[in-house]
Amino acid sequence: MRKPLVAGNWKMNGSRESIATLIGGIMEGMNSVKSAEVCVCPPYLYITEVLAKVQGSDIHVGAQDVAKEKEGAYTGEVSVDMLNDIQCNSVIIGHSERRAYYGDTDQMVAEKFSAAIGGGLRPILCVGELLEEREANKTEQVVERQLQAVVEKCGISSFKKAVIAYEPVWAIGTGKTASPEQAQDVHAFIRNWIAKSDADVAQNVQILYGGSVKSGNAAELFSQADIDGGLIGGASLDASEFLKICIAAG
Ligand code: PGA
Repeated sequence: MRKPLVAGNWKMNGSRESIATLIGGIMEGMNSVKSAEVCVCPPYLYITEVLAKVQGSDIHVGAQDVAKEKEGAYTGEVSVDMLNDIQCNSVIIGHSERRAYYGDTDQMVAEKFSAAIGGGLRPILCVGELLEEREANKTEQVVERQLQAVVEKCGISSFKKAVIAYEPVWAIGTGKTASPEQAQDVHAFIRNWIAKSDADVAQNVQILYGGSVKSGNAAELFSQADIDGGLIGGASLDASEFLKICIAAG
């Protein structure tokens, strides 16, 4: 049985004050979240503060990106070892905003994934197509290319220690959610694609859906056979909305 996971990607939002309110609100409602794992991914600067606040709770804390290099003269970067050092044990890798605005190529994403796995962090690997790619019927081709880059570098068994998030780019922050059937089709494609190399890994890997998930559409999305939870952007910035999504995943 795959445990559902709901991860909140806070992106570049918040302040010390608003983040204290947000995490406080999530913690207060955690006893109504029965079986899903809950993870929040604050901006780097606030990770230690959030980690201190969630101590003793079931909330996991992740980063939104990580350097592919180990250490040294890489201005502005944060390494896997640093995340381990503060006991931040998950990291989003290859988010479409990194791919679109910061030049993260499939190759770089694979290197970051490899660094994370090598250092014992759990990567949440994001894949997904652009609107024009969907319209050109290239969704599967794009997702396969993104996965293949990681498999070439790290092998299929690396997915034993990773999470995949399918996030159609046209659904991120746009209010346009993929229909449960559209999402399920791609999730099934991903699982079958992995199964061609390793049925066991495919059966056990958690595949999250991301893209305008809200309390109103979460339950239907999460009820699909191959959807194991969500990666939540906008709706993760509101404690009560985020908790409703976590409850829907349980
Ligand atoms: P959204 O973002 O929920 O605001 O669409 C999802 C994501 O970018 O992970």
